[in-house]
Amino acid sequence: MARKRWFTLLKNATLGVAAATALAGLAAPADAAPPPSTDGTQVIGGSRAAQGEFPWMVRLSMGCGGALYTSQIVLTAAHCVDRTGSNTSITATTGVVDLQSSSAKKVKSTYVYRSPTYDTTGGDWALIKLAAPVSGATTLPIASTSANNSGTFTVAGWGAATEGGAQQRYLLKTQVPFVSDATCKAQGGEYSGLIANAEICAGNVESGGVDTCQGDSGGPMFRRDNTNAWVQVGITSWGIGCARAHAPGVYTEVSSFASAIASAASKI
Ligand code: ARG
Repeated sequence: MARKRWFTLLKNATLGVAAATALAGLAAPADAAPPPSTDGTQVIGGSRAAQGEFPWMVRLSMGCGGALYTSQIVLTAAHCVDRTGSNTSITATTGVVDLQSSSAKKVKSTYVYRSPTYDTTGGDWALIKLAAPVSGATTLPIASTSANNSGTFTVAGWGAATEGGAQQRYLLKTQVPFVSDATCKAQGGEYSGLIANAEICAGNVESGGVDTCQGDSGGPMFRRDNTNAWVQVGITSWGIGCARAHAPGVYTEVSSFASAIASAASKI
C-alpha cells in the first residue's frame, strides 16, 4: 500500500497492513507508515485498560483486534482476513493487557469465516475459529437490536496511539460518542459513501481527539445496556486518519448482522 494512501482511503487498505504487521510483529506496518503525527493527537486517550477489565479482548497476529464471541470463536473485521476457509496461520493472544506477559494465552486459528456481504452490500465482520476453547473465557455478547446504537461507547485495542504511531504493548481504551448516520455522511469524502444500515459512526465530530486507529480494526466497540451488562455494538472498521475533527471512526453495525453472525458461528 502506498504511503500516500494513509491520508486518503484507509477503508479496504488493511490487508497490506495486516500482512506487513504479521511480518513485523508488533512494529508499525512498514508499508503503511505515515509521516509522524504533527498534532500529537492521542488516539484512544492514552489510558491503559486494567488487567481483566475487558477480558474478551483478543489481539490477532495479523495486526488486528477481536472479541471472544464464544470461548472458541473470535469476532473480528472482514478486512482483517482474506477469505473463508481453513486457516491455521493466525495466533490469537488472550487473557492479558500486556502482550508480552508470560501469562498470555495464545491459541492458533483453525478456520476463518469472512462475511459474504462485505464486498457487496457491506458488513465488515469475520469469525475466527480457534484450535481450542480459551480456558476461563469471558465472552462479549453482541447486540441483536438497535436499542444500544446510541450514547457513549468504549473502544479498546493495541493499535496505534497516535495517527501513524506504533502498535502498542499494553491495551488502551477510550470512550467515543455516537454519531448519527446523517452527521457522519455530512463529513463528506469517503464518509458520503457510508452504508447506513451496515456502519455506525462514533467520535468527537467537532474536535476529534478520541478514536481507534490502525491496528485496532476488528476490535469491539461496546457499552452497557439497560441492565448494566456489556454489549458489543460495533467492530472497528475504518476512518480517515485517526482522531481528526470531522473524521469520525466507522464501525460495523453489529446489530444488523447479529443473526448472520450467530448462524455462521453455529456452523463453523
Ligand atoms: N482500518 C483500521 C485497521 O485496520 C482501523 C482504522 C480505524 N480508524 C479510525 N480512524 N477510527 O486497524
